[in-house]
Amino acid sequence: MDRPGDGSGDATLTDVSGACQYRDMVTHFFTASSLDGFIATPGHSLDWLLKQDVDPEGPMAYQPFEKTIGALAMGASTYEWVMDHEEGRWGYTQPTWVFTHRELKIPDDADVTLTSEPISEVHASMTAAAGGKDLWVVGGGGLAGQFADAGLLDEIWVQFAPVTLGAGAPLFPRMLDLELLEVARNRDFLCGRYRVSRLTPSTK
Ligand SMILES: NC(=O)c1ccc[n+]([C@@H]2O[C@H](COP(=O)([O-])OP(=O)(O)OC[C@H]3O[C@@H](n4cnc5c(N)ncnc54)[C@H](OP(=O)(O)O)[C@@H]3O)[C@@H](O)[C@H]2O)c1
Repeated sequence: MDRPGDGSGDATLTDVSGACQYRDMVTHFFTASSLDGFIATPGHSLDWLLKQDVDPEGPMAYQPFEKTIGALAMGASTYEWVMDHEEGRWGYTQPTWVFTHRELKIPDDADVTLTSEPISEVHASMTAAAGGKDLWVVGGGGLAGQFADAGLLDEIWVQFAPVTLGAGAPLFPRMLDLELLEVARNRDFLCGRYRVSRLTPSTK
């Protein structure tokens, strides 16, 4: 696997096997996308994604990534999709903050906090709850963009499915400069991992 950005002494190196190597806590946006940059259809369907073949333990896959995560954030649409898809069950063990202005129903056994607090305050609460592990902004792209706006998004991982959608929920509706850290193929998916640059976005 090509790791062009993984030089020694890199303070933000993430080992996808779950081991942490000489690095600080990292905030990730890990998501799957269509080739044309949408993470859901206009009707919030993920059928185009769920039909693809993936090795769940393979290169840059969800399962090893998820072992590095100590706390989650997601927007209301993503939370509602999870609740609909899982028929009301909650699959995450990590504490989760759901951004919303509404009173959404939460399963009894779920460690879920509904919030409309500023991103920086929620990020501080997530960090305190994560036990030294990394943070994951599950989606959508607009919420991940708000973490980037606050200077609190370190990495973007995208698993590109071999499909175009033409329209839908955008992958990341911001202009940002990124550094390519890692690439891999996982069966149907072209996977890329990028570091978010702290530099002023390019206006080219
Ligand atoms: N392809 C993938 O791997 C993947 C990954 C994640 C998500 N998804 C899908 O992508 C779609 C994303 O939907 P989306 O674009 O609507 O994004 P979303 O972030 O899931 O939800 C947006 C909603 O979150 C709430 N929100 C966002 N920022 C907020 C803030 N600062 N304070 C308070 N509330 C805030 C608002 O809900 P209220 O109206 O309640 O205030 C807003 O309408 C979903 O269908 C999801 O299932 C796909």
